[in-house]
Amino acid sequence: MTALKGTRITWLGHATVLIQTAGGATILIDPFIAQNPKYPKGFVLPAKIDYILLTHGHGDHISDAVPVAAAHHSTVVAIYELATWVAGKGAAKTIGMNLGGTVQLGEVAVTMVEAKHSSAAQDEKGDHYVGVAAGFVLEVKDGPVIYDAGDTSLFGDMKLIGELYHPDVAILPIGGHYTMGPREAAVAVGYVGAKTILPMHFGTVPQLTGTPEALAALVGPEVKIVHWTPGQTV
Ligand code: NI
Ligand code: MN
Repeated sequence: MTALKGTRITWLGHATVLIQTAGGATILIDPFIAQNPKYPKGFVLPAKIDYILLTHGHGDHISDAVPVAAAHHSTVVAIYELATWVAGKGAAKTIGMNLGGTVQLGEVAVTMVEAKHSSAAQDEKGDHYVGVAAGFVLEVKDGPVIYDAGDTSLFGDMKLIGELYHPDVAILPIGGHYTMGPREAAVAVGYVGAKTILPMHFGTVPQLTGTPEALAALVGPEVKIVHWTPGQTV
């Protein structure tokens, strides 16, 4: 896809996204694999995953972070409290950051941006505070700017993300129920300004009813809503 300037993005179902840049950087966002009903059967992750980014502490975003980090020699990047949490659960290498900050991960500058959503991590002892939910902007050297909104409602300051970072591609939740649905995502598309939209967080379970078609019907023809399926690479 030309908007991606050689970077490849693979949807692994729900909010799990694998990003491989032309320069060889490999980043996995929100690994939800073993319990993910839409994880593409038989999909084999790359042997080396440089970084795992976590948007927030819910199980459908972090449940495989520690085992994947161990098996693929990854550094886990998350908001400070969540990074501390996964370190406590066994992640050997973590980077804690916070909203508004940028970290340089190889050839990718990653900025943590706002999201409007709850965030807690669960274990056998209950819910634990692990900071707030976030999104990420990935600026790939000589490549695209990718905005992954994480789990979020629509919010007006998405305009700032558009103004500041000029994303080429936006990965947006559209399922509804736990996040924005197509009606809200259509407004988000205008705020963010990306001309290529990769929808996620839909179709995983029956209550996530939003569809790429419903979003496409609400935005103009100048925006490409990609109707991808889990396992597909763009
Ligand atoms: Ni969530
Ligand atoms: Mn979620």
